Amino acid sequence: NNSEPVLMMLFGATGDLAKRKLYPAFFRLFRQQVLNNHFAVIGTARRPWSDDHFREVIADAIADQNPTEPEQSAFLQHFYYQSHDVGDASHYQTLAKLADKLDQQYQLAGNRMYYLAMAPRFFGQIVTQLKAAKIIDTAGFNRVVLEKPFGTDYESANKLSQELTQVFPEKDIFRIDHYLGKEMIQNILTLRATNSLLESQWSNQYIDNVQITFAEALGVEQRGGYYDQTGALKDMVQNHILQVLSLLAMELPTKMSEAAIRTGKVAALKAVRIYNAAEVAENFVRGQYTAGSLNNAQFAGYREEPAVDPQSRTETFVAGKFQIDNERWQGVPFYVRTGKRLTEKGTRINIVFKNLTANAAIATQNILTIYIQPTEGFSLSLNGKALDNQSTTTPIRLSYRHDSQMMANTPEAYERLLHDIITGDATNFTHWDEVAQSWRIVDTIRQAWDQDDQPLPTYAAGTMGPKAAFDLVAKNGNQWIWQP
Ligand code: BG6
Repeated sequence: NNSEPVLMMLFGATGDLAKRKLYPAFFRLFRQQVLNNHFAVIGTARRPWSDDHFREVIADAIADQNPTEPEQSAFLQHFYYQSHDVGDASHYQTLAKLADKLDQQYQLAGNRMYYLAMAPRFFGQIVTQLKAAKIIDTAGFNRVVLEKPFGTDYESANKLSQELTQVFPEKDIFRIDHYLGKEMIQNILTLRATNSLLESQWSNQYIDNVQITFAEALGVEQRGGYYDQTGALKDMVQNHILQVLSLLAMELPTKMSEAAIRTGKVAALKAVRIYNAAEVAENFVRGQYTAGSLNNAQFAGYREEPAVDPQSRTETFVAGKFQIDNERWQGVPFYVRTGKRLTEKGTRINIVFKNLTANAAIATQNILTIYIQPTEGFSLSLNGKALDNQSTTTPIRLSYRHDSQMMANTPEAYERLLHDIITGDATNFTHWDEVAQSWRIVDTIRQAWDQDDQPLPTYAAGTMGPKAAFDLVAKNGNQWIWQP
């Protein structure tokens, strides 16, 4: 395994993301010796924790990986805590000293990574202070890692990007989209690039439509404050869904380098049609969940959720049809849908092929399905002869799903992404050009909705969204392939 010495400075060390995702991922990387003796972590947040307390919290966060006693104590001795106010310049001096000391102690070669697991309004301030305190003036690499959201529209994202690039060059900015760390999303390009059976058919000549579904069973949980300001379009479509769409739609580079993949993705996003208000009304629908029940469980409506405005017009569901204006995809709808409190959790892609045989009347469309979560794998549906009946067919599904043991052994998204940051591979991160174009695509949809004061379509919790989402595909003669 590749490994580099590194000092990680974690802003937001007491937060939920750090506990649920980052500490467990650090530990897995430690077990694989990607993180060996040459690493140290400085956790910062406002709370006045001691190193000991910090280490106890981390011990808790990794408990379900059953570390042995020696393993755990070897791991924990790399963690240090520094109480920190992001707005106070003198605090960065303290950080600078601690960083230099740990650099010496663990021989970290001046390699540093700054992980901002905090509200985005602090990003600009933090990086500016890191620079002013000369923390980033080292001989090694200095990389900054950001969690979403990256802005709330194109304008705010652009402003943030400018603040960041005054301190870090774009190549050292790692914007996390955790979906890009998922096994089957990383598999999209492999599937396309290594199966001529698929890639030869990968265009409007053979593909009828593409469907991307990111369904969630959960409601907004405790995140009402964030979510009510955000909505499904910005929470899921602007980032995760458009990233997946770009991987499906891009031209395959002859050589799969980081730069070539990025160029391909950006070109695909630039070909996505930007809708005017009338086109938004024609091609996109939104919805909000009302109270409902499923399998004997009762769910409150969105407007009753904690920290949600009782008059909220925030959408908890989006379905839409994207159109890609290039030679490969002209005329092929890319349908997307995502929502909270749907029937079940399921992230999947359906590629629906055209029925071009002379026997179309007795055949069904071939469908390639890529299962992303909760199971991973893919399936391909074909037509076979019906038993005892030469003149009709029966659908056959060739299906490959990872079993639970294999899934337990696949690295988690954050583990892969952290590994990539340490080794400097930005392939599975979103470049500014991608973020910028995704905002341009989404902004006009948002604006059209903001102008439209008709009542919001609703759906009962536990269903697959408002009726309008079904009508949207039906009016093109299509239907959602996945209907749990
Ligand atoms: C996040 C969204 O980016 O992705 C959440 O903010 C959503 O609202 C989550 O629940 C889904 O991620 P996953 O990995 O659980 O499918």
